[in-house]
Amino acid sequence: MSFLFVVGSLFLLNTIELSVAGEGSTPKIKEIVLGRCYEYQLNTIGPEADNWKDCNEIWEAFHQAFAYKNPCTLAFDDYQPFFDATGMQELTKSLFWSGTHKVAQVYSDSGDRYTTLEDTLAGYLGNGLTWCGNENLSRSDSDGIDYNSCPDWSECDYTTPFWGLASTTFARHARGIARVMLNGSRVDSNGKPVPYREDSFFAKYELPNLQVNKVSELRIVVVHNNGPNKRLRKGCYTASIRMLKKHARNRGLKVTCYDDPNDVRHILCTDDPFSRKCLFLLFNSWRH
Ligand SMILES: *[C@@H]1O[C@H](CO)[C@@H](O)[C@H](O)[C@H]1NC(C)=O
Ligand SMILES: *[C@@H]1O[C@H](CO)[C@@H](O)[C@H](O)[C@H]1NC(C)=O
Repeated sequence: MSFLFVVGSLFLLNTIELSVAGEGSTPKIKEIVLGRCYEYQLNTIGPEADNWKDCNEIWEAFHQAFAYKNPCTLAFDDYQPFFDATGMQELTKSLFWSGTHKVAQVYSDSGDRYTTLEDTLAGYLGNGLTWCGNENLSRSDSDGIDYNSCPDWSECDYTTPFWGLASTTFARHARGIARVMLNGSRVDSNGKPVPYREDSFFAKYELPNLQVNKVSELRIVVVHNNGPNKRLRKGCYTASIRMLKKHARNRGLKVTCYDDPNDVRHILCTDDPFSRKCLFLLFNSWRH
């Protein structure tokens, strides 16, 4: 009985603690990262290629960046060995995104059409996973990864050292036309459209790291979920996008902007093909 009582109280304590801290690291993260590393290389360069990267080395660099450490004290530099180990090629079809995660992933088609950060080896390995270390874990009987809790957003932003360096590295490798897909349906607390947010990863880590002499054009694509609302459709002319154009031009980049190109509208319409907003092809053919 007393054993059950103790287990019961521990459980209670745990749930109280969990409600304060964020969720813990993804279970089996080592197996997942290693498996993704092999699978990615199988799909991109094939089993016979002789330039396979060493997945164990990549895991070690990743693990050493954060294990046994206080997650709130990590810096970008901690993850540099991981990004050195994964490497990155020059990206001639880069696709940046902000507020459009899902449609950008479908549009990129796993790197076949365009390349998002999540389509590079480094981004692919971390995508959707949670991980953090804990400075109190013992080196003799733990792997230094905290599976019970990671800091809550109110405590610290412990994911930016990884994703900020990932975004920085990604942007530095963009060549030719760099595309950015932004969400024209996103509004601020006053209902004003804010497809470009100055506190976004794109604004903070990607735009500033585009290599001006190697990127021939920044092509902005604004997408809307709102259907045929003429007023909201002019995303390229919103104050928010004008600001982005200004920031990019100030850096010396050539900028173009497109509202809801048809290929993107087709993707958004696959789940709702008969709605009014998705009959645009029909209307277009009537007109022509
Ligand atoms: C744009 O943002 C809105 C509001 O956050 C969201 O509901 C919508 O799914 C986003 N659109 C795309 C294409 O991701
Ligand atoms: C580690 O231990 C210290 C001292 O007991 C404690 O203040 C701190 O909250 C602990 N950190 C974590 C992440 O559990």
